Amino acid sequence: MKELRGKVAVVTGGASGLGRAMALAFAREGMHVAIADVDAANLERVAGELRSAGVDAYAARVDVAQAAQVDRFAEDARNALGGVHVVCNNAGVSPLGLAWENTLADWQWTIGVNLWGVIHGVRAFTPMLIEQDEGHIVNTASVAGLINPPGSAMYNLTKHAVVALSETLHHDLAERKSKLGVSVLCPAYVATGIADSERNRPADLANPPRDKSPDQLAREAMLRKAVSSGKLSADDIARAVVDAVREDRFYILTHPRIKNAIRARMEAILEERSPSNPLRDA
Ligand SMILES: NC(=O)c1ccc[n+]([C@@H]2O[C@H](COP(=O)([O-])OP(=O)(O)OC[C@H]3O[C@@H](n4cnc5c(N)ncnc54)[C@H](O)[C@@H]3O)[C@@H](O)[C@H]2O)c1
Repeated sequence: MKELRGKVAVVTGGASGLGRAMALAFAREGMHVAIADVDAANLERVAGELRSAGVDAYAARVDVAQAAQVDRFAEDARNALGGVHVVCNNAGVSPLGLAWENTLADWQWTIGVNLWGVIHGVRAFTPMLIEQDEGHIVNTASVAGLINPPGSAMYNLTKHAVVALSETLHHDLAERKSKLGVSVLCPAYVATGIADSERNRPADLANPPRDKSPDQLAREAMLRKAVSSGKLSADDIARAVVDAVREDRFYILTHPRIKNAIRARMEAILEERSPSNPLRDA
C-alpha cells in the first residue's frame, strides 16, 4: 500500500511495546488507528497519544484468544473509523520453561494469545480487505518463528505457526491475484514489556502457587537481560513495519545478525544433521 494517509490501521497488543510503537508510527503517517488489548488502562493512554498526534483513535478491551471478541472488534473498529486497511496481529506473550515442565494452562494461554489471536485476526479481517481489494496484513512472529532457541518450546511453536500461516496466506491471496499484501514480522530482542508477560495472564489460566524450576528462573533472567539490552528500539521496529507495508515486503527481519542462525538451521535441515543450538553455536 503506497498511500497510507487517511486510511485505517488496526493493531492488537496496542497498549504496549511494539504494538504501541506501530500504532504511533501509523498515526505519524496520517492513518487513523484502532487498538485492541487486555490492558484497559494503557489502552486509554495510547488512544490519548494517538489523538494528540492528530488522528482518530478507537480503543477496545479485547482478549485476542477469544473468537467472538475479535469478531466484534473487527466490526466495531470498521464502524468507528470508517474502514480498515492495515491489520497488525501483534499481541503476544512469552512464558518460558521446558516443554515437559510447562503446565496445561501455560500451553493454553500461550497458544491462545500467540496463535489463536493471529488466526482470529486473519479470520475476522481478511474478508473485509478482500472485499475492498485493498489492504495489508502484518502478523507478528519473532526470530523464534525461524529458529528454535532452547527453553521456549511454547513460544517457538506458536511463532513458527504464525510464519506458516502468513506464508500460506500470502500464497492463497497471490493465487487469486489479490492486491492485498502480507508481511510477517520477525524481530530479535527489543526492549518492551514482553519479559513481564505474566502481568496479563487471565485468572482462569493461572497456575497454582508453585516454585519455578532452576531452569525456568535462569531462562527468565536471561530473557529479561536480553530484552532490556536490545539494540533496536520499538520505534525502529515500527518504522520497519511501515516501510514493509509501503514496499509490500513479506519478511521483516529487523536484526540481520540473526541470519547466521537461520542459515545454520536451514543447512542442518538440508544436510539432515541434528539442529545446532542458536543461542550457542550461531
Ligand atoms: N520484544 C521482543 O523482544 C520481541 C521479539 C520478537 C517478537 N516479539 C513479539 O512482539 C509482539 C508484541 O510484544 P512486545 O514485545 O511489544 O511485548 P509487550 O508485553 O510490551 O506488549 C504485548 C501486548 O500484548 C497485550 N496482550 C497480552 N495478552 C493479550 C490478549 N490475550 N489479548 C490482547 N492483548 C494481549 C499486552 O497487554 C501488551 O500490551 C508479541 O507477539 C511478541 O511475541 C517481541
